[in-house]
Amino acid sequence: MPNHTYHEPLLALRNISQQFDGEVVLRDISLDVLDVKRPGVQQGQVVGFYGRSGIGKSVLCRIIAGLLPPSTGTVQVGNPLRPVVPGDVGFVQQRYPLFDHRTLFDNLLVAAARKHAPAEAKARVETYLERFGLAPHRRKYPAMLSGGQRQRAAIAQQLLCSEHLIILDEPFSGLDVAMIDEVKKIIIEVTTLDELNTVVVVSHDLVTTTSISDTLWLLAPERDAAGQLLPGATITKEHQYNLADMGLAWRPGVDAVPEFVQLVQHLKDEIRKV
Ligand SMILES: Nc1ncnc2c1ncn2[C@@H]1O[C@H](COP(=O)(O)OP(=O)(O)OP(=O)(O)O)[C@@H](O)[C@H]1O
Ligand SMILES: [Mg+2]
Repeated sequence: MPNHTYHEPLLALRNISQQFDGEVVLRDISLDVLDVKRPGVQQGQVVGFYGRSGIGKSVLCRIIAGLLPPSTGTVQVGNPLRPVVPGDVGFVQQRYPLFDHRTLFDNLLVAAARKHAPAEAKARVETYLERFGLAPHRRKYPAMLSGGQRQRAAIAQQLLCSEHLIILDEPFSGLDVAMIDEVKKIIIEVTTLDELNTVVVVSHDLVTTTSISDTLWLLAPERDAAGQLLPGATITKEHQYNLADMGLAWRPGVDAVPEFVQLVQHLKDEIRKV
């Protein structure tokens, strides 16, 4: 018996398309992320976002974050929904920028000060340094941090300065298995801190990402009724997977469940299709 329920939308995409110099990259993408509620838990949302390399995932992320105006369509975020403006959505890009001439502490403080008064900003930075295991490195400059420490710093930075929605573009790439577990834990923790918190995880690591998601999007080419390939990629209804309804969300050790293994195989087959 599913004991989760769906409520108001926190992210709404309507008819998003994107062209660059006449080359269609994205075509007619419409979808919603609804607030999912579970009794007795602060349950945020995790969306796993897949598609083959070069298909347009990062482009769609920039559009969702309000950093790239789409050729057509609208993005609305927040509760109540309103048109996105840059800064609403935290975005940890594939190559995330930190200020190289500032210490880790100062990097985080700059981000927090965009949203909070000085005393509050400092307190929040302290909290995040502790929570992300970065406190011993607070005086280091970005060049002195390991890849995993940088990754956590970038995630903390975006959490400190954005509203409830954050996008992580390839958060697991280049990390060792222990670090992957750590970033997974951080994502789960972020989404249980506040009912409205929503994390979109773009990844080629289907097992790791699916195991922490309640929804999946697959960006893929589409054919018309006559079998002709349509220009650009889209996320059809069939490629929006509800893991909560399948009983595959919020389950520790879910990656050993046969239905989960089958789903990952299905996703691989769909991604390979052209
Ligand atoms: N500013 C731009 N001008 C022209 N083309 C662009 C621009 N930005 C992206 N593209 C093109 O859009 C397509 C999608 O790129 P995108 O970075 O979104 O791929 P992706 O799905 O994130 O791939 P990967 O998994 O390798 O990161 C690519 O063909 C890319 O060259
Ligand atoms: Mg990308």
